[in-house]
Amino acid sequence: MKELFYGFYGTRIYLPLSGLSRKWRRFSKRLRNKEDCLLQQVKLPEISWKQCTSNRTARIWEHDKANGNIRISELGIISLIAEGCDDRTNLFEIGTFDGRTSLNLAFSSPANCLIFTLDLSPEMYTQFSLAHGERHMVEKAKSGARIEKYHQSNSLITNKINQLYGDSATFDYTPYINSCSFVFVDGSHSYDYAMSDTIVAMKIIKKGGVIIWHDYGIWEGVTKALEELEEREKFGLKNICGTSLVYWKST
Ligand SMILES: C[S@@+](CC[C@H](N)C(=O)[O-])C[C@H]1O[C@@H](n2cnc3c(N)ncnc32)[C@H](O)[C@@H]1O
Repeated sequence: MKELFYGFYGTRIYLPLSGLSRKWRRFSKRLRNKEDCLLQQVKLPEISWKQCTSNRTARIWEHDKANGNIRISELGIISLIAEGCDDRTNLFEIGTFDGRTSLNLAFSSPANCLIFTLDLSPEMYTQFSLAHGERHMVEKAKSGARIEKYHQSNSLITNKINQLYGDSATFDYTPYINSCSFVFVDGSHSYDYAMSDTIVAMKIIKKGGVIIWHDYGIWEGVTKALEELEEREKFGLKNICGTSLVYWKST
């Protein structure tokens, strides 16, 4: 019951309000010709979350947002996309952090889907430099800590989740090629990683699947990479209104 309440709050209350606040901040900064260090000017066209999902009320587990998690509105949208995935397909997340999104993907996706979530361990060598200011998300006591709480009470759900470790730029994705109905790109925010994680996402997505990127308009590397790719490849990337999510559906 409380999962439905937070799902309703996330998409029907928080989302429209935060969308208005974002628009106002961008508009007023433009008027005053000032840069907002937390919100960049963006170019991708917008799409409503209702066009990307079933427009039902999402369910949200672990509603508390930690520094490093996505917003409750974004979690609601992603949960609805997961709900619409084909059964017996894979869902892949780059960037586990505390496992809040992986857990929601497992709860919301059809029963026989598998969730794969890849994380960098603090001691691992990275192919590219991480973005300035994101090291704290790598250096945590435990990757996927929120998943553990549900092992006893919801083992059928947590058994769907497979935690993987590695650098997203050098990880071997061979077993996942063309198998994923959903890919969530939320690892390192540097330009190089945003570029290489996008190339990977395009390889592992299956026909009809959806890729979502997080932090568009927030982290410079992500914004620059996605806008450059769109300019060059004309994929048809769309920014989901009121969020930092970018949406793309493979056809
Ligand atoms: C913003 S957090 C992810 C938040 C999570 N997706 C959520 O929804 O709560 C970024 C995560 O990406 C991981 N990460 C950073 N660089 C990475 C890399 N090169 N390869 C794999 N994971 C990476 C960090 O360890 C961190 O857990």
